[in-house]
Amino acid sequence: MKCKMTHGLIGLMLVAMLAPVSPALAGESLPSPQQSGGMSLFEALKKRSSAAGGDFSLAEITREELSTILWATSGLNREGTGWTVPMGRGVPPYCRVYVAANDGVFLYDWKNHSLEQVSKENIKGKIGKQSFVKKAFFSLIFVSDGASLAQFNDEEVSKAFGQIAIGAMTQNTYLACAALKIGARYIHGINKDEIIRALRLPQGDEPLALMLIGK
Ligand SMILES: Cc1cc2nc3c(=O)[nH]c(=O)nc-3n(C[C@H](O)[C@H](O)[C@H](O)COP(=O)(O)O)c2cc1C
Repeated sequence: MKCKMTHGLIGLMLVAMLAPVSPALAGESLPSPQQSGGMSLFEALKKRSSAAGGDFSLAEITREELSTILWATSGLNREGTGWTVPMGRGVPPYCRVYVAANDGVFLYDWKNHSLEQVSKENIKGKIGKQSFVKKAFFSLIFVSDGASLAQFNDEEVSKAFGQIAIGAMTQNTYLACAALKIGARYIHGINKDEIIRALRLPQGDEPLALMLIGK
C-alpha cells in the first residue's frame, strides 16, 4: 500500500516536472531583444516556412527568444515613433499582439517592450479550429483595434489597413522564428468568439489570425 502511494507520488512529481511551464512573462520588462548578429536576413528568407501542424513540440521557448520574436513582430525600431512594420500614415500600431501561454494570456506593450497579463486562463486549446493549435508553446493572437482604426474615417480603408498590418507583422514573426530556428505557422482558422470572450475585447476589435510558435 505504502509502496503504491510512493509510486503515485513519484508519478505526480514527474508529471509536474515534465509539464511545460511558461517562463514567467508578466510584471516586468522583457529582456532586450536580439537586434544584431545571428542569421542574415537573406538566409532567414531562404529558411522561412510553416512548421507542420503535427510537429509543434512542447519544448520551452525562452523569454529572450520570445522578446526577440515580439520585437521583430511589432516593436519600436526608432526613437519615438517607428516600428518594425510600417503603419498607415505613420500612426501608432492599430493592431495588438497577445501571447497565449500555459499560464494565461499576455498583451504585448510595444512602448515599454513588456507584457501585461490580461487573463490567467490557458486558452491555447480553444482559439483555433485545428486540434494541433493547442500544442504550440505560445500562440500569438493578432487583433485589429477598432477604436484606433476608426481614425481613418473609412470602413473599407480601416479594414484593409488592419489586415495589411497583420500580414506584415506575421511575416516578421516568420522571419524572426526562422532566424532563431523556432517553428512558426500562420493560422487563419480561428475561433473569434472564444478569443473575444477570453480577452474581453470591446466591440469593433477583431481577432484576425494566430501565429503558432514552438520548437
Ligand atoms: C492567409 C493564410 C491562411 C492560413 N491559414 C492556415 C490555417 O488556418 N491553418 C493552417 O494549418 N495553416 C494555415 N496557413 C499556413 C499555410 O497552409 C502555409 O503557409 C502554406 O501551406 C504554405 O507553406 P509555407 O508557409 O511553408 O510556404 C495559412 C497561411 C496563409 C498565408
